[in-house]
Amino acid sequence: MSVPASVDLTTLENELLHEISSAGDLPALEAVRVSALGKKGRVSELMSRLGALPVEEKKTFGAAVNILKSAVSAALDARKSVLEASALNERLNTERADVTLPVRLGPVAEGRIHPVSQVLDEVIEIFADMGFAVAEGPDIETDAMNFDKLNIPAEHPARQDHDTFYFSPGSDGTRLLLRTHTSPVQIRTMSTQKPPIRIIAPGRVYRCDSDQTHTPMFHQIEGLVIDETTHMGHLKWVLEEFCKAFFEVDEVKMRFRASHFPFTEPSMEVDIGAEAIGKPGQWLEILGCGMVHPNVLRNCGLDPDKYQGFAFGMGLDRLTMLKYGIPDLRAFFSGDLKWLRHYGFGVLDVPTLGGGLSS
Ligand code: PHE
Repeated sequence: MSVPASVDLTTLENELLHEISSAGDLPALEAVRVSALGKKGRVSELMSRLGALPVEEKKTFGAAVNILKSAVSAALDARKSVLEASALNERLNTERADVTLPVRLGPVAEGRIHPVSQVLDEVIEIFADMGFAVAEGPDIETDAMNFDKLNIPAEHPARQDHDTFYFSPGSDGTRLLLRTHTSPVQIRTMSTQKPPIRIIAPGRVYRCDSDQTHTPMFHQIEGLVIDETTHMGHLKWVLEEFCKAFFEVDEVKMRFRASHFPFTEPSMEVDIGAEAIGKPGQWLEILGCGMVHPNVLRNCGLDPDKYQGFAFGMGLDRLTMLKYGIPDLRAFFSGDLKWLRHYGFGVLDVPTLGGGLSS
């Protein structure tokens, strides 16, 4: 078999290099590669002819074909990088991201934060800023925690004020109950932590009561500060700072009325001037408070001659109704989606003191 002259190789090389340089995209280039270097490609075919050649020619022709092969491979690689770069540029030119567009929330925008959860976050934010930690206690309590240790012995008239849900007595005669207030968390905290203590304790509480402003389950926030020097001036300051921050006003009128709780002495109820919520001329009761009773300190193993402090308790649902103008408490717990869409908050409306609590 006669061997093709080296001219043939030059022509083939020129042809292939031309095909390579005119391949307009990656698939076209791949087709050229297969037609040249593929198993049955034109270069591979030359290789398979080598066997039939006389030894001398085999050498020179083989070397020439190898040079051709490398030249074609190099050209293919070079063209491939050019085409890849232009494909990327093409994408970069057509697929634009406008980073100034507003965030698309997708399904996140569907959900609403319940107003009580939002207000809880607001309250925690305010007290955390004043150095309070958040404490918790169980919803199911003992008589001792909910009443006795808080200086409310059996037969005390205050027990009648709390329409308590009791469980059936256990085999040992003890009766568990649904806590009627968050004050048992005071006891749990003082019995397990050494002063100085500075906590708030939010949570669910239960009383057998239901009308427009009462539901059998509602939410309270307890506050407790115990050390060796805390006095009523501090109590008044903390509550005033809280009210200003919570209602987002510079001034708030507050009225401290003498009251009675068995676990504080003296005890007070606090009203705020309703101008804070845009209704001048009225007083609104928002919380109960007082200096922790020496008996309560003693019941928790603290020496009342050494330690003193204050406690307060407020209704979270009531604060929510006042701040956001929600008229009926029962709707809070009715699971009505229409209501939640109206009064609820966006998932990303996280309250912060710096960014404005409710804006
Ligand atoms: N526990 C009281 C209530 O539920 C509120 C309160 C707490 C009063 C702490 C004084 C001190 O009514």
